[in-house]
Amino acid sequence: LSQIKQSWQVRTAHPVSYDMVFCHDLFDPGNGALLTTEGEQGGRRRFVVVDRNVLNHHGAAIDRYFQKNDIIACIHPLEAGEDNKSPSQLKAVLSALDTFPINRRNEPIIAIGGGVVTDLVGFAASIWRRGVPRINVPTTLMGFVDAAIGVKTGINFNRNKNRLGSFSPPDRVLLDSSFLQTLPKRHLLNGVAEILKLAIVKEPDLFSLLEQHGRHCIEVHFQDSISQAILSMSVDSMLTELAPNLFETELARVVDFGHTFSPALEMHADMDLLHGEAVLIDMLLSSIIAWKRSLLSRSDLDRIFSLVLTLRLPLSSKGLQPNMLMQSLIERQHHRNGVQRMPLPTGIGSCCFVKNITLEDINQAVTYLHRWLQDRHFEYGHQNHERIFQRGPRGN
Ligand SMILES: NC(=O)c1ccc[n+]([C@@H]2O[C@H](COP(=O)([O-])OP(=O)(O)OC[C@H]3O[C@@H](n4cnc5c(N)ncnc54)[C@H](O)[C@@H]3O)[C@@H](O)[C@H]2O)c1
Repeated sequence: LSQIKQSWQVRTAHPVSYDMVFCHDLFDPGNGALLTTEGEQGGRRRFVVVDRNVLNHHGAAIDRYFQKNDIIACIHPLEAGEDNKSPSQLKAVLSALDTFPINRRNEPIIAIGGGVVTDLVGFAASIWRRGVPRINVPTTLMGFVDAAIGVKTGINFNRNKNRLGSFSPPDRVLLDSSFLQTLPKRHLLNGVAEILKLAIVKEPDLFSLLEQHGRHCIEVHFQDSISQAILSMSVDSMLTELAPNLFETELARVVDFGHTFSPALEMHADMDLLHGEAVLIDMLLSSIIAWKRSLLSRSDLDRIFSLVLTLRLPLSSKGLQPNMLMQSLIERQHHRNGVQRMPLPTGIGSCCFVKNITLEDINQAVTYLHRWLQDRHFEYGHQNHERIFQRGPRGN
């Protein structure tokens, strides 16, 4: 009896591999990209969650696609927007799935939409039968360069961003930029903010490309070859950063630039900010703090601000409360295991992590941003964005 084994350790390495590919004519019935599955032969049923606005544009083509390919598809429309990234929408998706059970391995769930759809459906797929495969088809710029290509899924809970979620890789991501043709301008600019994030802290060449061509790419809704180059660089840059740290073992993450104060801003109902709009404010406050601490040169700070002007990104300091920003920092500190680890730019294309940001730093940055906007006689949020730019900002 003295030799009875009394302790055990389970260890396994769980390999992660998934593909991402630029494609076009996704709903052409001859295009098999949406249907092929890894390994086993694909089954004949698909549970397809589609953003309601995307369904308005592509519903007929999606129906035809599955019919022609002899697939029984259950199309579940999902209302996007941050308010719908909720437990009740998650439950609705899971309930619909319950009435249309799919094979566990060879009938992947398909998510077609922006970050709200791919985050929520990704979470649903990761808990359904403890995890079934899924394919992501991002239809917003935010999804294209960020939300749909990593392994994080989630929904908001108790007014906290992404409080419930999982690390769950998609099986495939299909990147078709033609979806961006119908994306409203505000949502296009929302995605540009995430591209700008990578450019500031990681990619000096991308920053220069945005300076030269960013405005044009926005005008053509990212439909030409220079736009494709910017999209490809952005996806590549994001994946290079994510891949070695997929499960966030390392908590000091360059891609967290702009994501310290932004969760609180985004969840603040009165401010009515999209994810990228909140990230933009955070990036500028962080850049000001970096400059005030002599980590970033004045000329690089000016370059960042003038690119924001060139791209005409919506920006407002209305309702910015230093105490609320401090609370967000404290919350993020828990998320980063008790240390602030806040990314600050140290030049165009580089950053460092700091752990001693104070309320005074935040106060100074808010005051600076507020004055900067006032001095230029414009305070442009998304509501009056177009109107202000028709008139043109005064000063530079
Ligand atoms: N998982 C991640 O790593 C990650 C990364 C970044 C952002 N996110 C999340 O992404 C979410 C934001 O995503 P989003 O900006 O795509 O918002 P969203 O999904 O709400 O879509 C924005 C709007 O665009 C509409 N839309 C989508 N595609 C369209 C198209 N092709 N044509 C016309 N309209 C279209 C939607 O109906 C919606 O009204 C946030 O919740 C954020 O937290 C997640």
